[in-house]
Amino acid sequence: MNENEEQFTAAALAYSEKTLDHFRNPRNVGVVENYNGRGKIGEADCGDVCEITILVEEEQINDIKFRVYGCVGAVATSSAVTELAKGKHCEEALKLTDDDVVEFLDGLPDQKKHCSLLGIRALKQAIYDYWLYKQLLENGQVTNRIEHEQIREDLFQQFANEF
Ligand code: FES
Repeated sequence: MNENEEQFTAAALAYSEKTLDHFRNPRNVGVVENYNGRGKIGEADCGDVCEITILVEEEQINDIKFRVYGCVGAVATSSAVTELAKGKHCEEALKLTDDDVVEFLDGLPDQKKHCSLLGIRALKQAIYDYWLYKQLLENGQVTNRIEHEQIREDLFQQFANEF
């Protein structure tokens, strides 16, 4: 076994069976068709990125999917977040914490606990994005998701230019 394989095995052993299962068979992968909320969070230190899309109907998250670029922990925790949030009322889903994700996966190695925050933060951003979209639709400021995505893009650009 070479050094890389040894490191990989040592790291894999530190993950729970449930975490490895969510890494090997991630649940709810992709983009929800006709989603009405989207969150995308990147982790500056490691470069991992998680995107979550949701379909909310009567304030309930009826569909949720994720796409992730990242480590074993990022994939497993994002998958876990979708399982935890599916079917929940938005207010209830906002109360989910990284501890809930860690507990759901039967624990995570200490150095990987920050990965659990990616999915949770992307979920929360998706819920707030849904509320903003709903408000803009009600005010007649947008008529569809494409217009909303454009406004989001412009806002991010403006924000980025100011810093
Ligand atoms: S190492 Fe950065 S999210 Fe996992």
